[in-house]
Amino acid sequence: MFPQTRLRRLRYHPAVRNLVRETDLSVHDFILPLFVRTGKNVKNEIASMPGNFQLSVDRLVDEVGAAVELGVRAFIFFGIPTSKDPQGASAWRDDGIVQQALRALRPVFKDVLLITDECFCEYTDHGHCGILHEHGGRLDVDNDATLPNLAKQCVSHVKAGADVVAPSGMMDGMVAAIRKGLDASGCTHIPILSYAAKYASGFYGPFRDAAESPPSFGDRNTYQMDPSNSDEALREVALDLEEGADIIMVKPALSYLDIIRRVKDRFGVPMAAYNVSGEFAMVKAASAKGWIDERRVTLEILTSIKRAGADMILTYHALDAAKWLK
Ligand code: PBG
Repeated sequence: MFPQTRLRRLRYHPAVRNLVRETDLSVHDFILPLFVRTGKNVKNEIASMPGNFQLSVDRLVDEVGAAVELGVRAFIFFGIPTSKDPQGASAWRDDGIVQQALRALRPVFKDVLLITDECFCEYTDHGHCGILHEHGGRLDVDNDATLPNLAKQCVSHVKAGADVVAPSGMMDGMVAAIRKGLDASGCTHIPILSYAAKYASGFYGPFRDAAESPPSFGDRNTYQMDPSNSDEALREVALDLEEGADIIMVKPALSYLDIIRRVKDRFGVPMAAYNVSGEFAMVKAASAKGWIDERRVTLEILTSIKRAGADMILTYHALDAAKWLK
């Protein structure tokens, strides 16, 4: 007779539990998303995202400083421009809002990682992620016409101080176009963090308020992925890797933990997951009502995303979690 297997032997002592723990969450895993807008001394809290703000450049510098104090070392920036047009041209202007933010931050925070989101939905007057054209009797985003603009936006961000570019528009060929643009401008060392498997998700609602970027008509179903698909995510990732992506993102995170795991198992490349605005808002709302323990649930969620296979997590919980992990 074999002795009865007892898994509880490894749970009985707290120090043993610490030794056998498979996933250790750390502040080094976090990337904090921040929203920058024009003006001075502006810090507008986003109603559906408590503790997150639209910040003018001066207040953004303060916010990054406070986050760095807590140990957060990586940030991704979203711009809210003053003027919008059909192309989203302010996205690649030298004095665009994100470029201004980078020029203010770069000299102050030399060792901090400044990542830029690369997309046009915040900059176009129609709120779609690229230039429009008519296709099969419908207005739709023109994939190939959008690519050169994406490359221009990335180069402009890097010239202003960005360390990593993160294209989020789900255009086919975006990674190749950006790689070519960066290399031609002498930015061969800049990594591309591609939003490779980004789903057309209801969980982006609060973000679209924060970034003032909802589509003015229609939806994003012709470029973002159908939530029902999983094999397709592997094809998206394979193509982005072939085109030169350095880090692969799955977004959102919580309803897509299976995708994170499949991609990690298949490709074994560095992976990011975006714990998006709606996922954050649900936790905040339920804990405001006293229905869940915010600290416990947040750390459990972030740990589960890492356990699923993400090496890094874009999360609005970064500051709270950094405090709790201290
Ligand atoms: C822009 C973009 C979106 C998010 C990140 N980049 C919104 C969208 O696709 O509509 C969502 C992030 C979040 O919900 O936290 N392409």
